[in-house]
Amino acid sequence: MSHNIEQLQRHEIPNRVRFVPGNGDLTKTVVTTNTSAAEIYLHGSHVTGFQKNGESPLLFMSDKSLFAPGKAIRGGVPICFPWFGSREGLPAHGFARVMAWELVATTALPDGGVCVRFRLPENAGGANAFLGKVDFIVTVNDALTMELHVTNPVAEPLIFEECLHAYFSVGDINDIAITGLKGAHYLDKTDNNARKLETGDAIKIVSETDRVYLDTTGAVEIHDAKLRRIIRVEKGGSASTVVWNPWIAKARAMADFGDEEFRGMVCVEAGNVGQNQITLASGKSSALKVKLSSPPLK
Ligand code: BG6
Repeated sequence: MSHNIEQLQRHEIPNRVRFVPGNGDLTKTVVTTNTSAAEIYLHGSHVTGFQKNGESPLLFMSDKSLFAPGKAIRGGVPICFPWFGSREGLPAHGFARVMAWELVATTALPDGGVCVRFRLPENAGGANAFLGKVDFIVTVNDALTMELHVTNPVAEPLIFEECLHAYFSVGDINDIAITGLKGAHYLDKTDNNARKLETGDAIKIVSETDRVYLDTTGAVEIHDAKLRRIIRVEKGGSASTVVWNPWIAKARAMADFGDEEFRGMVCVEAGNVGQNQITLASGKSSALKVKLSSPPLK
């Protein structure tokens, strides 16, 4: 369902924030700052674009993406919540990415940036309703910062997984190297979840890659030799890092992803999944934070 744009318009900020009909008639938030531009759909509270002035887009979006209630957007930054991966009979990666979120507030920042806050509707998830309060805060300036805040207002602990599943745009998959994960253990989803040790300084993507790096809290970088930039992923409150590229066969098998698009993207996802899932005691809050920046590759 499309949001009532007129109701949202009272949150517009001249030259900074607008609400417009986007693809599939879903409402999107268009953010403009002194140094960058971003787009966020209320569907999934999904960031579909971030671009610094004079640079190419930081986030990959598939030309084949669906834009429809109940369907996930392919590209940008899906919010996987309150579970990660598949669950029998339930939406993969949780229900948060396939439903409309509410807009809470828009703020113009003194540095020329913009902050937009969204909230998962109460009782979202129907029979699998999540009982916590979930806010997603996007700060746009010369970096893109995303925060997923969860608060537990009920008596019992809440257990959940969460992941900000960022798709990055790269010049050529053959010309990138991913650093920052050396020495970490990962579960290799392409090899029956075998537990392996990352030994390389730099990860090269040369085949289907689907890895959950555990207990990894440090920054991860994508060094892009073709676009001459580094995509820096700084994490806060995140113990898991997922690296994903579908490669040839899986790309062909996905209806909402172009056959050749795997050459121009890679996912480096920050979250808390599997054994790093969160158990939130009554009255407590958690904050998952990701800051994306793009310094030049020298
Ligand atoms: C990754 C998972 O995070 O997301 C992969 O590790 C999965 O296993 C990929 O294929 C895409 O998932 P989906 O549900 O968006 O097709």
